[in-house]
Amino acid sequence: MIKNISFLKSLKQDISLMKKAIGVFDSGVGGLTVTSRIINYLPRENIIYFGDTAHLPYGSKSKKTVTRFSLKITHFLIKHNIKLLVVACNTASALGLNTLRQKFSIPIVGVIKPGAKAAISATKNKKIGIIGTDATIKSDVYKKALQKFDPKIKVYNLSCPLFVPLVEEGWINNKITHLVATQYLKSLKNKAIDTLILGCTHYPLLKGVITRVMGKKVTLIDSAEETAKEVKYLLHKQNNLIIQNNHKPQHKFFVSDAPLKFKCLGEKFLKRKIASVKKVEL
Ligand code: DGL
Repeated sequence: MIKNISFLKSLKQDISLMKKAIGVFDSGVGGLTVTSRIINYLPRENIIYFGDTAHLPYGSKSKKTVTRFSLKITHFLIKHNIKLLVVACNTASALGLNTLRQKFSIPIVGVIKPGAKAAISATKNKKIGIIGTDATIKSDVYKKALQKFDPKIKVYNLSCPLFVPLVEEGWINNKITHLVATQYLKSLKNKAIDTLILGCTHYPLLKGVITRVMGKKVTLIDSAEETAKEVKYLLHKQNNLIIQNNHKPQHKFFVSDAPLKFKCLGEKFLKRKIASVKKVEL
C-alpha cells in the first residue's frame, strides 16, 4: 500500500515536472558556460535556453535596451512553463535583474551575487579585480555586491570589450588574444589583487590566457559554479527538484538568429553535443 502511494507520488511529480524546466538566457552562447555547470549539478533537470544572438552584444548597450530584451525573453520562457529563471548574462544581470524581479513572481537567479560571494570566500588580502563588458563595469554592481558582503574590500574594475569577439571567433589560446589580454590587464597587475572576477559569460574560456598574464597566484572567479549551486539550493528549498532516477532530461535551445553558428560554438561552451537549435522571433 505504502509502496503504491510513493509510486503514485513519484509518478505525479514526474508528470507535472515533465513540463517544468529551468529557464536560462543570455545574449548569445556565453550563458552555456553557466548551463554546463547547472547540468553537472542537476543532471536530471529539464533546461530551456534562449540565446539572443540577434542582439548580441549586450555589453555595449543601454540599460533601457538590455532590460527591454530581457523582459521579452523572460515572457517567452515563462510561456514555456519554467519553474526558475537564470539570467546567465552578466550584463543583463547587472542592468535588468531588478526589473525582472519586480515584474515576475518566479524565482530569478542572476550571476552577480554568486560571483561576488565566491570572490569574498577566495580573497585573503581583500583586493579584488573585476573584468567585464563596458555596461557591467559602468553599472558598478559587482563593487556594490562585494562591499555589501564586506565594506573593507578594495575593488578594481576594468572593462575588456574585445574579449567577447575574440572568444566568438574561437581565438581562445592564440598570440593575438594573449597580446590583447596583456594590454588590458596591465593596469590590474600592479594593484596586488589576489582574486579576479571573470564578470562576463565569455571570459571563463580565456582562463588559460588570463592566468598566464596575471600569474598563478591570482584566483580566477567564474560565477558559473556558484550560480549553479544557488539554483540547486533554491529548487531544493522549494521541493522542486526532479527526484526520479529514471527521468530523462530535456535540453532545448532557442535563439533569435543564426542557429547553426550557435550550435557549433555552443558545443564548445557547453562541452556537450547540442541536438538542435530553433530560431524564434520574439
Ligand atoms: N553575455 C554578456 C555578458 O556576460 C557578454 C556578451 C555581450 O556583450 O552580449 O556580459
